[in-house]
Amino acid sequence: MKLDIDFVRSQFGQLADDPEFVFASNAGGSYVCNQANHVLEHYNHHTRVQPYSRYPSSAEAGRAMDRARQGWADALNIDPGELTIGPSTSINTYVMAQAIGDLWKPGDEIVVTNQDHEANSGVWRRKALEKGVTIRQWEVEPESGLLDIESLFPLLRDNTRWVFFTHCSNIVGTVNPVTEIVKTIKSGSNARVFVDAVAYAPHHISDMKALGVDGYAFSLYKVFGPHQGLMYINRDIHGDMTSQAHYFNSGNPAKDFNPAGPQHAQVAGCAGVLDYFDELHRHHFGASDKNSNARLDEIHQLVLQHENELAAPILDFIEHHADLRLLGKTHTRDNDRAPTIAFKPLKQSAAELTHKLQDAGIGTEHGNFYAHRLISDLGIDPEDGVIRLSLVHYGNQDEVDRILRALDSAL
Ligand SMILES: Cc1ncc(COP(=O)(O)O)c(C=O)c1O
Repeated sequence: MKLDIDFVRSQFGQLADDPEFVFASNAGGSYVCNQANHVLEHYNHHTRVQPYSRYPSSAEAGRAMDRARQGWADALNIDPGELTIGPSTSINTYVMAQAIGDLWKPGDEIVVTNQDHEANSGVWRRKALEKGVTIRQWEVEPESGLLDIESLFPLLRDNTRWVFFTHCSNIVGTVNPVTEIVKTIKSGSNARVFVDAVAYAPHHISDMKALGVDGYAFSLYKVFGPHQGLMYINRDIHGDMTSQAHYFNSGNPAKDFNPAGPQHAQVAGCAGVLDYFDELHRHHFGASDKNSNARLDEIHQLVLQHENELAAPILDFIEHHADLRLLGKTHTRDNDRAPTIAFKPLKQSAAELTHKLQDAGIGTEHGNFYAHRLISDLGIDPEDGVIRLSLVHYGNQDEVDRILRALDSAL
């Protein structure tokens, strides 16, 4: 079975806005599915009141927010009390750093990478410096930007408290084998593991218990939904964290790690993304009594195949063009390469080539995409940076052809 791409595209109203435009900056934020827009609109028209009181519109508002929390907990195979819904991943990791870092002490160690977006790097480093904690860096291979699991082993000690890495780099697009890495970490240390999945979640929603991570974060505005960050924190470690909530709310897991307070309509809107996934599943597989996570896995098989087909010709073109340097893996055969494709032009600046692509109707960008350390360590000027073409499952072959034509003539 193949992904019914026409059905998929009919679920995203914005795709119809300008048929000549190819949106290829999805890793910066995706289009919003119709279902999420519907929930947001309904909330704002009918239940825009303080939620969780007894009067009808308020009670309905509370139910809409609870539906989102329960739905995402089911999707991630976690308890709703293990889910923080905050304004963004950067804020969620910032708050998390205060909550775990309060108990760090000199002599402790943490491991961070130079592959990550700064949201999963700077907050931990800053807290470690404040607390006298040793920072060890798991480093990418300097040509490809890929992480090798073998080089993680020597960094792990008895006193390693946390290891932070990314599920998928927002630059090189390679999906790191999280389950395998977690096993390596847990067999070589007592460290806990936090994974940034912002660049991975648009391609697949994972089962937290199967991954074995202690913390995991991603941003729904890149997963076809409202501007919210979801963060899983294993309940077993809540006791080793300090609440960041108002003192009278402390001990409430939905509030402990989100001092901002919930953004009511946006939280409710998160359920719309799952409504979309439900419809996508029903359209392809019919009625199903499988659980939410199992259905997401089935969708993923279709999405993966489709996204591989989108990425392959672009990777091929860039790899074989003498004037371009491709970062990351050159193929999708191992099913571990998201269609997030970054490359450096060798004979013109990234800015120049990007502007030509934009003038040809391709919505792409250049820069360091806040993976400043990675871009610098790959020997690339972080201001001009790389060009990033990032696609998701609603892309189609016609768009790929247009990207390739635009690239060819711009070069
Ligand atoms: C890989 C990765 N991690 C973290 C973030 C930060 O997410 P947010 O914008 O929700 O703070 C981004 C945003 O671009 C990202 O690409």
